[in-house]
Amino acid sequence: MPANKKLLILPGDGIGPEVMAEVRRVVDWFDKRQAIRFDVDEDLVGGCAIDAHGVPLADATMDKAMNADAVLLGAVGGPKWDDLPFENKPERGLLRLRKDMALYANLRPAICFDALVGASSLKPEVVSGLDIMIVRELTGGVYFGTPRGIEDLPNGTRRGVNTQVYTTPEIHRAARVGFELARKRGNKVCSVEKANVMETGVLWRQEVQKLHDAEYADVELSHMYADNCAMQLVRNPKQFDVIVTDNLFGDMLSDEAAMLTGSLGMLPSASLGDADATGRRKALYEPVHGSAPDITGKGVANPLACVLSFAMMLRYSFDLGDDASLIERSVEAILASGKRTADIAVPGEKTISTAEMGQAIVAELEKLAD
Ligand code: IPM
Ligand code: MG
Repeated sequence: MPANKKLLILPGDGIGPEVMAEVRRVVDWFDKRQAIRFDVDEDLVGGCAIDAHGVPLADATMDKAMNADAVLLGAVGGPKWDDLPFENKPERGLLRLRKDMALYANLRPAICFDALVGASSLKPEVVSGLDIMIVRELTGGVYFGTPRGIEDLPNGTRRGVNTQVYTTPEIHRAARVGFELARKRGNKVCSVEKANVMETGVLWRQEVQKLHDAEYADVELSHMYADNCAMQLVRNPKQFDVIVTDNLFGDMLSDEAAMLTGSLGMLPSASLGDADATGRRKALYEPVHGSAPDITGKGVANPLACVLSFAMMLRYSFDLGDDASLIERSVEAILASGKRTADIAVPGEKTISTAEMGQAIVAELEKLAD
């Protein structure tokens, strides 16, 4: 019998714990009904970790993450911790996980489910059938570049500095993930930067092109400036297959792409590092939506993005594509049957709670698995 998979769950702040409670039902269902077995551990990250330990990610929690087969995270942050000094903010816990686990490739699929075409703010014909994969570089760029900081100037004013920096290996390893994924999809990569104003953009464009010519000439490659990409995403998003871009542009473009699908509440993500000698790669899965303080505690949050993040875990960490599809098909069936949390309902439509959505998924899994 294969060893149990070590799963570390970090529900975090805001709606994180609410959506994670529903994902636990799905994890438990797989543990009981399918071949895979989990040893689940739960811990704190973000604001709740600050309240308990004074830091957004305790060293002991970091150690657990390093030793887990996969980490599933809810969300971090909230108004309660907004005024903390920068280095102690809840978000730093998430950034430390990404950096210390070397999760350089962030996969953010934007798929428009048929049943949700009406929930998008764009016309149905623009988004129906949409299936984009954004690969966001996650451990470099302006998020981590130094020097950084805010300094007091002699004349009494202040100066803020951040540094956008990329090296060839950082660009290559992110782009490589994009090319590999493209080969299994529509075979097209669009590389996105601002080569018209930034040296890092020039380097990004040249290095992606070089890697393409040397190893991925069979994949169709185009280059686009990030501002144009933002515009093209709302004009004609279906022109894209895989988008490969840096940390900051990826952050923004993935929120934009998410909204094309109807709701941020639908979008999962996977953050992956390199595989070790045993083939195991460090990995963290999280919904793209944040902690959503405005709806926290109301029982209305959509758990589907987090459930779909667990599906990505089954696919990318445990090579269980069929089990991942089972979850994705149950989500599709639930949506087709008209069940909606508030974020994906059109005005006047009946809505269900976070917990009802969780129950519906398990019931659907039960049905599909028989
Ligand atoms: C995301 C979030 C994070 C980011 C925040 C919470 C630090 O917006 O995962 O997209 O900027 O990367
Ligand atoms: Mg973001």
